[in-house]
Amino acid sequence: MPAKKNKQKLNQKLTGQVRPARMKDIPQIYKVIRENPKEVLPRSYPDLWRNFDRFLVYEDKGKIKGVISWQVLPTVDLKEESTLEVVSFSIRKRCQRSGIGRLLLNKMIRKLEKFEPDRLLVLTFYPKFFKKFGFKRVSKRKIYPKIYLGCINCTKYISPLSCPEKAMSREVPDKVEGVPQ
Ligand SMILES: CC(C)(COP(=O)(O)OP(=O)(O)OC[C@H]1O[C@@H](n2cnc3c(N)ncnc32)[C@H](O)[C@@H]1OP(=O)(O)O)[C@@H](O)C(=O)NCCC(=O)NCCS
Repeated sequence: MPAKKNKQKLNQKLTGQVRPARMKDIPQIYKVIRENPKEVLPRSYPDLWRNFDRFLVYEDKGKIKGVISWQVLPTVDLKEESTLEVVSFSIRKRCQRSGIGRLLLNKMIRKLEKFEPDRLLVLTFYPKFFKKFGFKRVSKRKIYPKIYLGCINCTKYISPLSCPEKAMSREVPDKVEGVPQ
């Protein structure tokens, strides 16, 4: 997209809001995820039914324009660091670069920090975007057992190490005020 048009889009005022997903949003969440198949793994309807309450959505006039979710990366060793992963982060193609991703990710970071994990993790094709929100590149080798859970079902690449997605993490400060909502 040309730089001028891009800037114009970012200057448009957003009139919608970020809110927790409701059950009736599930069909739209399903579609928004599928709009970006290169970057975002599709989710089945049964999966979304079981996990709809893990989603935040950006809604404007009844239309869901962006979605974001999260999952726990379980540890086998209790001394290991606790990690929450940002997943299913997708903005409708024609609504990208208008500030919706920023709103959703900021709200999700605030929500997840209240669970007091050691860090947040994301696997992404767009490390520059996540850098703006305090995420830093980490070696996939170091977190191999953690990402294995998601990668085991992926049919796109032979191994997580040959997948072009970059792993990025964000440390969580020790004390974060508030209760998860
Ligand atoms: C990546 C994505 C979530 C970003 O959301 P968005 O609504 O388009 O981004 P925003 O408009 O909120 O942009 C916020 C800032 O990030 C920048 N940005 C947006 N997309 C970017 C990208 N792909 N690379 C680098 N910077 C990017 C914007 O220019 C803006 O910068 P500024 O604050 O300096 O002006 C969205 O484009 C998307 O859904 N992409 C396809 C699916 C995907 O990759 N999801 C992430 C999976 S981990």
